[in-house]
Amino acid sequence: MDLKALIREIPDFPQPGISFKDISTVIGNAQAFHYIIEELAKGFRADRPEVVVGIESRGYIIGAPLAYALGAGFILVRKPGKLPAATERIDYTLEYGENSLEIHKDAIRPGQRVLIVDDILATGGTVSATAELVRRLGGEIIGYAFLAELDALQGRTKLDGAPIISLVHYE
Ligand code: PRP
Ligand code: MG
Repeated sequence: MDLKALIREIPDFPQPGISFKDISTVIGNAQAFHYIIEELAKGFRADRPEVVVGIESRGYIIGAPLAYALGAGFILVRKPGKLPAATERIDYTLEYGENSLEIHKDAIRPGQRVLIVDDILATGGTVSATAELVRRLGGEIIGYAFLAELDALQGRTKLDGAPIISLVHYE
């Protein structure tokens, strides 16, 4: 299925020179949404993830149905101040500014097999920070799943060598 044709590109959003990849159009298509989840599940089923970690907010759109399809639990990584119980927190640098992410300290048991999911791999800042949170909790990262990847930004070089599947690649 030609997913790229269904992802809308918005020139100069949110700032001049950036071509925003709008996934709302592809996930709004019933066949495409089903295909995305099935393809990613197929890619990781043999690795038997016990939990899927999804990154707020667009990572939840792919992560929660993927967890369901794999028979795995779903774990939230959230923007700061949203999780109610004791959290592990990481501050990381973005291209423009700073950001933080949190996970509940008891969300993952040491040794649990974890699949990390987001909608888009760009610079890799968001997902590498998430991977660090998972490692601090003792999770074993078995892979990374994305709908799309911006290859030129080389985000995958920030990851640890576990398998990465991105269904759509942009140069
Ligand atoms: C976007 C996207 C990824 C991240 C990718 O999220 O959904 O999570 O950026 O960029 P990176 O690889 O350079 O870190 P955003 O922070 O815009 O928030 P959202 O998911 O809540 O829309
Ligand atoms: Mg995001």
